Amino acid sequence: MKGIILAGGTGSRLFPLTLVAGKQLQPVYDKPMVYYPLTTLIENGIRQFCLISSPQDLPRFCQLLGDGRKWGISIEYREQPKPGGIAQSFLIAESFIGHDSVALILGDNIFYGGDGFRHAFGEFKSGATIFGYHVNDPERYGVVEFDSAGRAISIEEKPKSPKSNYAVPGLYLYDNAVLAIAKNLQPSARGELEITDVNLQFLQRGQLHVQQLGRGFAWLDAGTSSSLHEASAYVQTIEKRQGIKIGCPEEAAFRSGFLTVQELEALTANMPNCEYRDYLARTLREARRPFSENNFTR
Ligand code: DAU
Repeated sequence: MKGIILAGGTGSRLFPLTLVAGKQLQPVYDKPMVYYPLTTLIENGIRQFCLISSPQDLPRFCQLLGDGRKWGISIEYREQPKPGGIAQSFLIAESFIGHDSVALILGDNIFYGGDGFRHAFGEFKSGATIFGYHVNDPERYGVVEFDSAGRAISIEEKPKSPKSNYAVPGLYLYDNAVLAIAKNLQPSARGELEITDVNLQFLQRGQLHVQQLGRGFAWLDAGTSSSLHEASAYVQTIEKRQGIKIGCPEEAAFRSGFLTVQELEALTANMPNCEYRDYLARTLREARRPFSENNFTR
């Protein structure tokens, strides 16, 4: 399975922060926002990436992430000239996807909590897998309705009267049929190729699986000044309390087996003296200890 990170858009809700760097380059506590979704995909075994962004921000992402080799992954870049909708990603990244299945993640979605996605990635074979997360304000999102057996029966984009409190977070797994579906989409009233229309097509074919994310799972979006601040505060609280980092691609690549101990050592040695480097040095030390202790930071 390949991975797409969609990190464009105008970032207008974060003005004036986004005058010089797009939303997904902004800090969430101690790292750039895009580190979080990138880490989520690395943790789930994705190794080949395509990052899509605006013409202005694409060079900045290249500078930040490079070709991915230092993390044992590959990253290609594609331009989205204007925000034409989330589902436009599949058209832009068609040559990257090739004949594979694909995981699409939004560059401003932050996930944290245990093994929430492991099963979905591990078991994925065909069709589409998306997620349902209970929220207080479903009208801001794609909303999924379930029948009494827990099967998805409808999905609506930002409904005025939501049929449930289950929002669809910005992580979607699709088989290769998503390419043909995206090619036949019509723009919505807001002029975008909607991801909800893609999901509806899979639902109509009886090929949409919706996994509910439980209470112990955090999904944060960082699209407004308030939610950006809240996301930073959340990350700081967890990191300080537990002594672990959320959204650390080096650690995720190491734990996923994409980097050897020696490679992580070399990467760490090249970092300036800072708290981030100290953390990775500690991760390396712990990796050499017996399994029971080492397992804590997973
Ligand atoms: O966050 C999850 C929600 O994301 C879903 O529940 C909705 O179904 C889905 O439509 C989307 O909702 P929004 O309309 O709030 O998404 P937004 O326009 O804020 O875009 C999400 C991210 O994708 C944001 O970081 C900008 C980026 N983006 C968006 C569009 C439309 C692009 O890079 N290019 C685009 O064309």
